[in-house]
Amino acid sequence: MTHATVGEPVEAHSGIPGQGKDQMSNRLSPGTSVPSRVGVLGGGRMGAGIAHGFALAGATVVVVERDGQSAEAARERVESSLAKSLERGGFDGNLDELTGRLNVSTDYGSFAGCALVVEAVPEDMELKVSALTAVEAQLGEDAWLASNTSSLSVTALAGTLQRPERFCGLHFFNPVPASLLVEVVLAKDTSAELAVLARQWVDALGKTPVVVNDTPGFASSRLGVAIALEAIRMVQEGVACAEDIDAAMVLGYKFPVGPLRLTDIVGLDVRLGIAEYLHSTLGERFCPPQLLTKMVARGELGRKTGKGFYDWND
Ligand SMILES: NC(=O)c1ccc[n+]([C@@H]2O[C@H](COP(=O)([O-])OP(=O)(O)OC[C@H]3O[C@@H](n4cnc5c(N)ncnc54)[C@H](O)[C@@H]3O)[C@@H](O)[C@H]2O)c1
Repeated sequence: MTHATVGEPVEAHSGIPGQGKDQMSNRLSPGTSVPSRVGVLGGGRMGAGIAHGFALAGATVVVVERDGQSAEAARERVESSLAKSLERGGFDGNLDELTGRLNVSTDYGSFAGCALVVEAVPEDMELKVSALTAVEAQLGEDAWLASNTSSLSVTALAGTLQRPERFCGLHFFNPVPASLLVEVVLAKDTSAELAVLARQWVDALGKTPVVVNDTPGFASSRLGVAIALEAIRMVQEGVACAEDIDAAMVLGYKFPVGPLRLTDIVGLDVRLGIAEYLHSTLGERFCPPQLLTKMVARGELGRKTGKGFYDWND
């Protein structure tokens, strides 16, 4: 069962102020720390960024991948992003020391001794359930487990575990090194202790935690998509052109980028998938506007196809 991805990918070099450069330098909060040994399941785009963050914060990081080739690719991803962070400056230590903190494996048994494991395998409920239960079986009873899911119910995932109180969502944003935000998603049974610890870990990574009770779209996607859908309805109804609607939000409300330009960057198809998911879970206010479905049907998906609310061919 595959679900719409609700955490919206915003790539590096998106032109959004504050994105595209390592935001962590010198921002480690005094007095907070990450666990000394942290596991990451899945070293893809997000998992590699999460591993990078915990290694920079001083943890020994164990990344477990599904096969040898993926493990090698994961190692390269984490090492090259560690090297980039060192080039940018602001961190103590050298590359050998940092990469020495990284262990990459294909054996879930390598998670033994980890105080925290963050799961970052693809957004598929069955895959996540089988991966999380396999990880939990390797962990001590006092270890914590988290998922980087961007759309699945954290409470439903918790319900498949032996120790649901030791599980929460840690929703990192893409690209992880440049993003300042992590949503801490509390499931029905997440313990109060984990709610406090998770915020401290995020602080220690140099990012800001936002605590959200488990609901579709969490906080970020729900609000971001609501604004984008209203902006699209306004274009559809002829209220104003895309440029003027975006300018109203950028200049009037200090948005770093307007909702329609951001929709082009994220991809209209991605936004439609999220809107459909939120429509099915939260009701009519997330009904996708006709203009959005028509543009997706015409292949006007935004920046990646050269045309969306803006022309990207120039
Ligand atoms: N990409 C984004 O913009 C973004 C943003 C926020 C959250 N997320 C969420 O993060 C998670 C991962 O997304 P991603 O973009 O990093 O995906 P990805 O495809 O880049 O990485 C997933 C990794 O998991 C590995 N994997 C697959 N099955 C595995 C298994 N059984 N055991 C170990 N490793 C396994 C794959 O080899 C791959 O390297 C998803 O839940 C996604 O919704 C993604």
